[in-house]
Amino acid sequence: MRNKITIAIDGPAGSGKSSVSKIIAKRLGLLYVDTGAMYRALTLKAMRNGIDLGKETDLAGLAHNTEIELTHKEEGTVVLLDGQDVTEKIRGTDVTNNVFYLARAEGVRECMKRLQRKIAEKGDVVMEGRDITTVILPDADYKFYLDASFEERVKRRRKELEQNGKQFVESELSKDIKIRDKKDLTRKIAPLRKAEDAIVVDSTGMSLEEEAEAVISYVK
Ligand code: DC
Repeated sequence: MRNKITIAIDGPAGSGKSSVSKIIAKRLGLLYVDTGAMYRALTLKAMRNGIDLGKETDLAGLAHNTEIELTHKEEGTVVLLDGQDVTEKIRGTDVTNNVFYLARAEGVRECMKRLQRKIAEKGDVVMEGRDITTVILPDADYKFYLDASFEERVKRRRKELEQNGKQFVESELSKDIKIRDKKDLTRKIAPLRKAEDAIVVDSTGMSLEEEAEAVISYVK
């Protein structure tokens, strides 16, 4: 019997980390854990409950009183917020625009850390996010930082929106990615950064399959 493995993946928006993590999980028979979905679910609850997003202590209190669960079905991850399926709702623009309030709150991140470490404890997981290689699982068996040029990431975002039949304004696309990068990179707690010992995979010009293949080639 092979040993259990833990793979940690970080990278900016549009680096392909979600899609690549899904492919890797399927290929290697691992559990896929989308930590961004957890922050998104909590954001949805905060908005629904009319919580002041500027009040970090209120957000931390909410995190402590919320149950977020990721379950897995043939069609992909199902996100449960206090038992309710919110898989689709957490992808809305309103959630995307507000999630940084939750992501910068220390008490929220502490709560997420406990939950995410508990999920990873059992092993055989590929967990992706912004602070997985640096804060959540610094001792993971494999750590990757996925990247791609800014132009490539904008191109991927455009394709994703088109495929999902979503409306967008061309000039807003690159502005959105720039804003998200800035928020991820400059927040005080657990900002996105390359762990010193992470393997960097730059997927500019690669398909998702090629990117996943590049990552898997490092996993023995
Ligand atoms: O990966 P995503 O775009 O679905 O993540 C949503 C937000 O959550 C993103 O703006 C950054 C934040 N996030 C985070 O701060 N830490 C993580 N481990 C994962 C996501």
